[in-house]
Amino acid sequence: MVYYPIMFHVRNRSLYVERVPVGKLAGLCGTPLYIYSQAQLLRNFNEFERAFKDVPHVICYALKANSNLSVARTFSQAGAGADIVSAGELYRAALAGFPPEKIVFSGVGKTADEMRYALDSGILMFNVESMEELAALNRVARSLGRKAPVAIRVNPDVEAGSHRHISTGTAENKFGIQKRSILEAYRTARSLGHIEVLGIQAHIGSQITSARPFLALLLVLLRLVDELSREGIRLRVVDVGGGIGITYHRESPPSPSEIARSFIPLLRGRNLKLLFEPGRFLVGNAGILATRVLYRKHSGRKRFVIVDAAMNDLARPALYDAYHRITPARSRPGRREAVDVVGPVCESGDYFARGRKMVLPGPGEVLAIENAGAYGFAMSSQYNSRPRAAEILVNGRRWDVVRERETLKDLVHGEK
Ligand code: LLP
Repeated sequence: MVYYPIMFHVRNRSLYVERVPVGKLAGLCGTPLYIYSQAQLLRNFNEFERAFKDVPHVICYALKANSNLSVARTFSQAGAGADIVSAGELYRAALAGFPPEKIVFSGVGKTADEMRYALDSGILMFNVESMEELAALNRVARSLGRKAPVAIRVNPDVEAGSHRHISTGTAENKFGIQKRSILEAYRTARSLGHIEVLGIQAHIGSQITSARPFLALLLVLLRLVDELSREGIRLRVVDVGGGIGITYHRESPPSPSEIARSFIPLLRGRNLKLLFEPGRFLVGNAGILATRVLYRKHSGRKRFVIVDAAMNDLARPALYDAYHRITPARSRPGRREAVDVVGPVCESGDYFARGRKMVLPGPGEVLAIENAGAYGFAMSSQYNSRPRAAEILVNGRRWDVVRERETLKDLVHGEK
């Protein structure tokens, strides 16, 4: 496969996505604008795939990170499965071409309608998070005359060391079933007539920047697999969730091959299929949000750069105080000074950077907010009645509008 120069590179002071200048796309398609590199999407997927080639595995792309149909289709065509959390994501996964036998359904609050839809579609498995959910799934499966394939999500009590909103594997949060109740949960599952016990699952958090928690997690899961096997409950699938971090600022997250090195010896000789549910790792560094500078102003000791994107387009800084690098589409020499990059929404939390050192950009200049491919557009809203941004997928010299910019009319669609 030919790789174009990957994602970002600066040539003659212009920022490119593969072979296309960001400034050109911003001019033709307007801003704010999400731009994705297909080569980078595939590179991320292939890196993961190669790392685990020696063990049976499926990489189930966590659609929640970026559910654009063309992004998702890029992964389905490369051989990925999907991790979904709603009927809406199942609908998208089907449109994007993911085979049902590679789809897993996560989430603490699946409704009966969603269960029915997923059973009808023939998905690989439900990651069940509570005993009441298990009973409900059994009822729905019975009403359809089916058996529901299940993994129980265990709360492994492993500290992932990421932001408190996105860490999920410790005892005090709402996810999964406590380790000490797991054997009992599987005994119940086995006794239910319309449940097929298939695997075990956990997901310990997001933006994890060390390999250690993943190894700790796998050890917990394999110990449970062995305990269950002694009771005659033979699991075939071990799903370790997602959560591999990326470099937003100075983090040095583990590579898939680093994780694979510790995993593979533990999995050899076992009749288990390994599942992953990565989201951010596959799409995060493959997308930018291009935005145009509107105004600049001084206020007290502060200097503000006001841009046309806002927290409704990319919520991560406002929600998690997340760091995103910002690079001008066309760089020029100059003195760097500390600026706050903010959006037009009427909230002080509407910012992209605080006290960031950069050459002061002028009105009309385009900036690229980097690493915006994951949880960027997917978490965008119309807050302040701002139509959502367009999305572009670049492949070499070619680029396509893979989601049109919303219009004012779209804002009131369905309203009376
Ligand atoms: N599997 C399950 C069950 C999950 O809950 C998640 C993410 C994933 C997989 C994918 O995790 P990833 O590989 O992307 O870390 N909006 C936040 C991230 C929330 C993650 C929620 N769950 C952010 O922008 O940082």
